[in-house]
Amino acid sequence: MGTTHGFGVDVGGSGIKGGLVDLETGELDGERIRITTPAPSTPGAVADVVAEVVEKFGWTGPVGVTLPCVVKRGVALSAANVDRAWVNTDAAALFAERLGRAADDIAVLNDADAAGLAEMRFGAGAGSDGVVVLLTFGTGIGSALFIGGRLVPNTEFGHLELDGHDAEKRAAASVKEDQDLSWEEWTRRVSHYLRALENLIWPDLVIAGGGVSRKADKWLPLLKVRTRVVAAALKNDAGIVGAAAAAAHGIDH
Ligand code: BGC
Repeated sequence: MGTTHGFGVDVGGSGIKGGLVDLETGELDGERIRITTPAPSTPGAVADVVAEVVEKFGWTGPVGVTLPCVVKRGVALSAANVDRAWVNTDAAALFAERLGRAADDIAVLNDADAAGLAEMRFGAGAGSDGVVVLLTFGTGIGSALFIGGRLVPNTEFGHLELDGHDAEKRAAASVKEDQDLSWEEWTRRVSHYLRALENLIWPDLVIAGGGVSRKADKWLPLLKVRTRVVAAALKNDAGIVGAAAAAAHGIDH
């Protein structure tokens, strides 16, 4: 396996997914593995599953890992849909130790930032200049902001306040499920959220990611916003691909 390959693991509230990535095409090389996130999702328990995924592939090179957390210099500083014990955990040191890697061979970054890196490099954002924001609509809302192709990490736009609520509690994809909202009802909420965001950062392009991006035809045409909104191209694998790219090329934050 040459240097054109990398390995990414995407840690989410429900599943931990990993795979071998072709860094020239941004595609997975072979199958990905998904293991249910342990409960409680403490750092030690998650690190064991990450190691299990990496070992299943017999991969010995650098590894990128995403977390649904603010991550600065390898340290998790928040924990939205994972165990609170992640807060202030040196995740990079933990994974390096558990995977038997040098610190330089591990990259840990926010899950939406990883998805954004992948979309900008290989997907819906490729070649886009200006201000681009990727939003992942899933259990929560993740965000990745790019200016001239460069990531501004840890933006956390899912936690904008919307009518006195945390925005992701109103407009995440999980809310559509939990409250049994129609596409029209949910998209009205997403429009409201996007308009609030537009008024603050005036993006040139919004990339809609997360599981609902697979059903983009059902809701993107219903949006009432001024910015161009396109569906993410890499779908479920964006986090894995972005993590692998970050481990191979480095991340700055
Ligand atoms: C977290 C973000 C994360 C997003 C998607 C939010 O609740 O605060 O860090 O990127 O969920 O998982």
